[in-house]
Amino acid sequence: MKLVIGNDHAGVEMKYELTVYLQNKGYEVINVGTDSTEAFDYPIAGYKVGKAVAEGKADLGVLICGTGVGISLAANKVHGIRACVCSDPTTARLSREHNNTNVIAFGARIIGMETAKHILDEWLNAKYAGSERHHRRVAMITEIEETQELKAAEE
Ligand code: RB5
Repeated sequence: MKLVIGNDHAGVEMKYELTVYLQNKGYEVINVGTDSTEAFDYPIAGYKVGKAVAEGKADLGVLICGTGVGISLAANKVHGIRACVCSDPTTARLSREHNNTNVIAFGARIIGMETAKHILDEWLNAKYAGSERHHRRVAMITEIEETQELKAAEE
């Protein structure tokens, strides 16, 4: 499986450690983040990771900034991206099973390295449940994204 990873200056160290961790598990990892600790605008990395996943250049994406918030907000503006910040393994697993997330974000100033690895494992090992109700709800998110409207909300 091919992963794309992106980060700002706050996430450089975590990016390196997670990259090695993932490579040791057999994942191919494409780095589109900064390798410098000089201030870097997180939307650039969020956009690049989102684009790579949306265009099928990677299967899933990993984002790291100080909180995980700004970089995930940027990635979510790319059509087809469902990114969420996760600070615990349960949210990460359920985000794939129920919401079919295709990008995960971490706050390097919020969680530790071992927690990030644990969360990543849960997320990567989980699968979208794809049941009718989850599918209907994820389709509603896509409808909002594509039309800026939601028919179900008008009923
Ligand atoms: C950078 O100082 C910080 O704002 C950024 O890493 C991130 O936390 C934004 O959401």
